[in-house]
Amino acid sequence: MTLQFASEASTWSCRAIVAQLDRHIIGQDKAKRAVAIALRNRWRRLRLPAAAAAEIVPNNIIMIGPTGVGKTEIARRLSQLAGLPFLKVEATKFTEKGYVGRDVDSMIRDLVEVGIALLRRRKEDELRADLEAAVEEKLIDLLFPPLAAGGEPEREQRWQRSREKIRQQIRERVLEESTVTITTSSQRVPLANIFTAAGEEMDASFADGLGSLFPKKTRESVMTVAQARKVLSDQELDRRLDQEQLAQQALELVEQGGIVFIDEIDKIASTGRGGHGPDVSREGVQRDLLPVVEGATVTTKHGPVRTDHILFIAAGAFHMSKPSDLIPELQGRFPIRVELDHLAEEHYLRILREPDSSLLKQYQALLAADGVTVGFTDAAVDRLAGIAMELNRRLENIGARRLQTIMAQLLDDLLFDAPENAGGPVTIDGDYVERRLAGLVRDEDLSRYIL
Ligand SMILES: Nc1ncnc2c1ncn2[C@@H]1O[C@H](COP(=O)(O)OP(=O)(O)OP(=O)(O)O)[C@@H](O)[C@H]1O
Ligand SMILES: [Mg+2]
Repeated sequence: MTLQFASEASTWSCRAIVAQLDRHIIGQDKAKRAVAIALRNRWRRLRLPAAAAAEIVPNNIIMIGPTGVGKTEIARRLSQLAGLPFLKVEATKFTEKGYVGRDVDSMIRDLVEVGIALLRRRKEDELRADLEAAVEEKLIDLLFPPLAAGGEPEREQRWQRSREKIRQQIRERVLEESTVTITTSSQRVPLANIFTAAGEEMDASFADGLGSLFPKKTRESVMTVAQARKVLSDQELDRRLDQEQLAQQALELVEQGGIVFIDEIDKIASTGRGGHGPDVSREGVQRDLLPVVEGATVTTKHGPVRTDHILFIAAGAFHMSKPSDLIPELQGRFPIRVELDHLAEEHYLRILREPDSSLLKQYQALLAADGVTVGFTDAAVDRLAGIAMELNRRLENIGARRLQTIMAQLLDDLLFDAPENAGGPVTIDGDYVERRLAGLVRDEDLSRYIL
């Protein structure tokens, strides 16, 4: 069996996956290992004969760790690099008021939509040159309407020359602000007005079924050439796609390679003391989740999806509860437990500096847009990490999120004053950090509110 629609990334070795995650997340090696193995196991399973592959269930993972240490971030980066349909849901979403059991299935339906969008984008990449050429032709026709047949040859030649001139201008993007009129079609079901008798919002797949009752509307829209490029390209892509086939491929990709990340799973663990109130509803959500995680068939508008081989990664802080407070059946379906570590000063230091788009790099880029060059000395970064550590110890430990409040406070004046005060380059050293933040850090009340 092969997963022919997956991207190259789905063939990476564990080491390669971890190396990619290392570019964004500092430390947390155990969690990185666990997700890398889970991802690689999908690939391994697909090498096996179908009968053996069917027997192998994914080793779903629970990531346990304090707030702000990278649980969600690992999932987010994994989704970017995996090239597989990936959906993130908050478990608490299903405990909200008005929730009815069937909604848990909606995550699989959403995952299919993610899969379709993913394959569509991949197709778009494949056809890029072809699409661009088609869009160019379309734009020329719009800007310079075709000549009626049967004209004199001389006129036709002139027309041909002008047309080539327009083509050149379109390529050089000098006509981006000219306007064109484009026919778009949209099909809108007046969803807002459709509620079931109980007053709940209607199931999306049912609403889709109603689509055919409402006529397709076409309308003329005036837009600039720049905007029209995107619209025309989408239309050309639609014309070249076999929607039915795309959906079938997406269903297979989801069944064999889909990943669902369930965040805040600790919030649906019951604290064990009794069968009242919120505990009942939390346990209810767990029971609803069970069939989907264990393997069930979920009906989507594109067809049925078996969930047996979808990988589930759950995460939670588990401050108030433990994984063992989950109902046993659900625990059994998440055999891999990984703990994420508390961050230490050395981690804060590296988080500020090392990731591909670390906070320091982000702010440097933002200020560079205003012509301000900012540099940070080692002493400044040391001091910032120290302050993060100290505040997390004294106030509440919010992990790496503390760095965001500190940085915003540190650079407040610079961010406000640029571009008017865009003098020479600015160097932020230990003294600068001290001047800007020391007062705040010392004053307990102030820091509680501001940092
Ligand atoms: N180990 C890390 N390396 C790099 N950045 C990190 C790390 N941990 C946290 N961050 C940064 O801190 C922010 C919060 O992290 P994240 O959302 O992953 O927290 P979390 O562990 O999911 O916490 P919570 O339990 O509150 O959901 C993110 O913006 C992330 O970039
Ligand atoms: Mg999180």
